[in-house]
Amino acid sequence: MKTRAALLTGVGERWIVDDIELGELGPQDVMIEIKAAGLCHSDEHMSSGDMVIPEKTRLALGLPSQFPLIGGHEGAGVVVEVGSSVQRFAVGDHVVTSFMPACGMCPSCVDGRQYLCDLGASLLQKSEIAKHTWRGEQTNVYSNLGTFAEYALVHEYSLIKVDPELPFEIAALLSCGVPTGWGAAVVRAGTRPGDVVAVVGIGGIGINAVQGAAAAGARVIVAIDPVEMKQKKALEFGATHTAGSVDEARPLIQELSRGRLCDRVIVAPSVLYGDILSGAMSITGKGSTCVAVGVAPFSQTEIPMALHDLVLWSKELKGTIFGSMNPRTAIPNLAALYASGQLKLQELITRRYPLDEVNNGYDDLRNGEILRGVITT
Ligand SMILES: NC(=O)c1ccc[n+]([C@@H]2O[C@H](COP(=O)([O-])OP(=O)(O)OC[C@H]3O[C@@H](n4cnc5c(N)ncnc54)[C@H](O)[C@@H]3O)[C@@H](O)[C@H]2O)c1
Ligand SMILES: [Zn+2]
Ligand SMILES: [Zn+2]
Repeated sequence: MKTRAALLTGVGERWIVDDIELGELGPQDVMIEIKAAGLCHSDEHMSSGDMVIPEKTRLALGLPSQFPLIGGHEGAGVVVEVGSSVQRFAVGDHVVTSFMPACGMCPSCVDGRQYLCDLGASLLQKSEIAKHTWRGEQTNVYSNLGTFAEYALVHEYSLIKVDPELPFEIAALLSCGVPTGWGAAVVRAGTRPGDVVAVVGIGGIGINAVQGAAAAGARVIVAIDPVEMKQKKALEFGATHTAGSVDEARPLIQELSRGRLCDRVIVAPSVLYGDILSGAMSITGKGSTCVAVGVAPFSQTEIPMALHDLVLWSKELKGTIFGSMNPRTAIPNLAALYASGQLKLQELITRRYPLDEVNNGYDDLRNGEILRGVITT
């Protein structure tokens, strides 16, 4: 079956919207008519090259090229066909895609750490499910999802059923940005009532760390971003203070915490570099936690950090994927919080784009003009 999709052919290239040929529906696959897809910075990392495996490493590992690539991992839509052994989904169900599959059977899943599902290991590579072709060539599919398309073929492990009342553009945000940011602050950092929290980078991820920290009862939330519009938005989502950089925020945090610095720092800039992390660690207090969420280029291997403080101040530095939550419970729970008016989702969407204008969306993201953009059909 043919469908239109947005593809990248290599690093530095613009998105091409063209017809692709979808592969055959496998026994555990589900065909989705995509109704909305969010523009996360992680897709942008493929065109900038940050998430592209360096050629030398890729060849040494015998891996095929990651291009051409069908983009998109935040998505929501309607089930139009199910594979022969799919039992949990039926035609007409409304679903959200999850960039992290949750098979429920691997050691990580049975141990309650579905965000580390073993099936996530090959997400950046051409995999078994990548059966689609473009101009006769097999394509890679971002996170095995490829939501920048009219139709997508998705493994049942990467889908979550949602209430049909939930608008599609809202549901699409629950794929990645909302749970990742929320979970980074609430679950991975473990924000507690009365905490002093800083969030570095107020995009689709950071803004949800702000609202997560607010819901968890943080006393002070300092939203740090060089873009003024992001700072203003952060105040609407629960931030108590704003700053344009970590250096600008430091004296403010010192004053607000009476010299103790932050209890939790969540780091979600567009691209993570070692110096951003060292700045974040410098505002992390005694016995406190810094959580890195932003994706770093493969080439980034060093953090210039005060190791003396790390040890003697007993600081904690953690990474997180999907906010360290279980997609099967986090997505419906966050949808329920939205339905009861306790989670802002509509307000996250700055602009909507037709699929053909995906490049405009990513231009706007790079220019700091959108909190979250959504492709709608
Ligand atoms: N760990 C995960 O599971 C996960 C999931 C999704 C996205 N991500 C990553 O999180 C990061 C953020 O994604 P997003 O979609 O929110 O991106 P975005 O582009 O919407 O927002 C990033 C924000 O960071 C700001 N920024 C850039 N440099 C900064 C700096 N030095 N200090 C403070 N702010 C700075 C930008 O102005 C922008 O507002 C990306 O690297 C993305 O790939 C990680
Ligand atoms: Zn994402
Ligand atoms: Zn698993």
